[in-house]
Amino acid sequence: MHDDFPFSDPICGGGMKLAVIGANGQLGHDVVRAFADHGDEVQALTHQDIELSSLESVAACLRATQSEVVVNTAAMHNVETCEQQPGRAHEVNIVGARNLATATRDLGSTLIHVSTDYVFDGTKGSPYVESDEARPLNVYGRTKLEGEQFVRDINPRHFVLRTAALYGDHPCRAKGGQNFVDLMLRLARERGRVRVVDCEFTSPTATVDLARQIVELSRSNMHGLYHATAEGSCSWYEFAREIFRLADVSVTLEVASPNEFPAKVPRPAYSVLENRGLKSRNLNRFRLWQAGLHTYLSEKQLPVASQS
Ligand SMILES: NC(=O)c1ccc[n+]([C@@H]2O[C@H](COP(=O)([O-])OP(=O)(O)OC[C@H]3O[C@@H](n4cnc5c(N)ncnc54)[C@H](OP(=O)(O)O)[C@@H]3O)[C@@H](O)[C@H]2O)c1
Repeated sequence: MHDDFPFSDPICGGGMKLAVIGANGQLGHDVVRAFADHGDEVQALTHQDIELSSLESVAACLRATQSEVVVNTAAMHNVETCEQQPGRAHEVNIVGARNLATATRDLGSTLIHVSTDYVFDGTKGSPYVESDEARPLNVYGRTKLEGEQFVRDINPRHFVLRTAALYGDHPCRAKGGQNFVDLMLRLARERGRVRVVDCEFTSPTATVDLARQIVELSRSNMHGLYHATAEGSCSWYEFAREIFRLADVSVTLEVASPNEFPAKVPRPAYSVLENRGLKSRNLNRFRLWQAGLHTYLSEKQLPVASQS
């Protein structure tokens, strides 16, 4: 460690030296923990340590960490906020990604950059693979897609990971702290009746599972663009039904009509991703989404039913 190291003490281990950006976010928190558990020396960087939209901040911060691998989980990803503040979304998701790619390339580091299923328009009707044409429907998706392209063009040592519908133990900072699982459990407790749409499909992905996949990729030199979600898919209604079944919650669950909760911003109705790239290189470590959910609920000390 440098004597003049400007950040909190790194979590040390005997392995690789890396930095995680967005370390106090929902995903970043579990990525830091996964590397630390793996015995790596991980520098946890929060927004107080690094500002993605400033090349000076990014370059100086990463130079100080001297990391072999940089994992970027930070983004502006609240869909409504991106729509209201497209200029800021551009700065964080596009300029920020370009800054990271430039700084990591100059330092000879690998960049693992997290992206989204919202780069697709949802009209395909079967799982999207990496070679499918991306056609985002909103500012968030468009800025993330452009950010991906800068990473891929600038730093050849990159992993761009498109993921979806994350939930984890640590609050999602951009979405007010409560993930879908916890929201469903709270609504069931408070109202006893919950209505959820059955016409939008995704692959709910536990942050611990994505974090484990990121650790695996950090050891690989098979750089590229990868879809990185839990195996299988479901509608949000089916997701809620499995939450209540596993947690043995007595609730009246009803299908909401498609226009009951009109979205302010267009979103893909079907954004299921197939991890084709990971599978073709024997790198896929994801479980079925139901297994990730089972673990998540078990760790909340809830009485959890067995998986179907
Ligand atoms: N959540 C999902 O369902 C989902 C689905 C698909 C893809 N993703 C992608 O997954 C990643 C992680 O999501 P998450 O749920 O873990 O998000 P999160 O909990 O909101 O964490 C995002 C982190 O980024 C930091 N950040 C925001 N703007 C920054 C900037 N300009 N410079 C430096 N740091 C900045 C935030 O810090 P402050 O809060 O202090 O600003 C926060 O620590 C994002 O790239 C997102 O696009 C998420």
